[in-house]
Amino acid sequence: MKHVLIAALIGTSTLLASGTVSAQAKPEDVIKFRKSVYTVVGWHVRPLGAMVKGQMPFDQAVFLKNAEIVADMASIAPDAFAAGSDKGAETRAKPEIWSDAAGFKKVMDNFQAESAKLVQVARTAKDVDAVRSQFSALSKSCAGCHDNYRTK
Ligand code: HEC
Repeated sequence: MKHVLIAALIGTSTLLASGTVSAQAKPEDVIKFRKSVYTVVGWHVRPLGAMVKGQMPFDQAVFLKNAEIVADMASIAPDAFAAGSDKGAETRAKPEIWSDAAGFKKVMDNFQAESAKLVQVARTAKDVDAVRSQFSALSKSCAGCHDNYRTK
């Protein structure tokens, strides 16, 4: 029984990892999901930026919570680029995301790594200076993808 359950779980995660489940979703739904993921990312990056720029007092708990949400979104972001979701609704995703899959994976991996690192750093941050350089690294990972894979 236990083995059946584990097999079922592994089966599910394999499907998710390969994007098969997402691929079965309608392209317009994937695009809607994609924009939602990045809307959440943008929303939660804003207080991080405000604290780093000194426009908002540094609050370690608030910083950490927002950084965690960004990292969680980064971890699910690959599902938002299922094959076939290059069209079907208005989208700024460039065709290069799918035609240059290796290059896109690199910037996606970077986004995931930098957001996860920001969570690590934020966990023990005593002040804003402790998170400054990693926040900048995360911001660069956004631009690294937008510059090449998102239309202006
Ligand atoms: C791996 C690529 C990639 C990374 C990394 C990335 N983005 Fe994006 N982002 C996109 C693409 C592609 C779109 C366009 C989505 C569409 O229109 O279908 C987008 C759209 C957006 C949007 C607009 C959402 C909407 O309503 O359409 C915001 C805001 C955004 N990104 C913020 C960010 C921020 C902030 C970061 C970094 C913390 C980031 N993104 C990192 C690829 C990326």
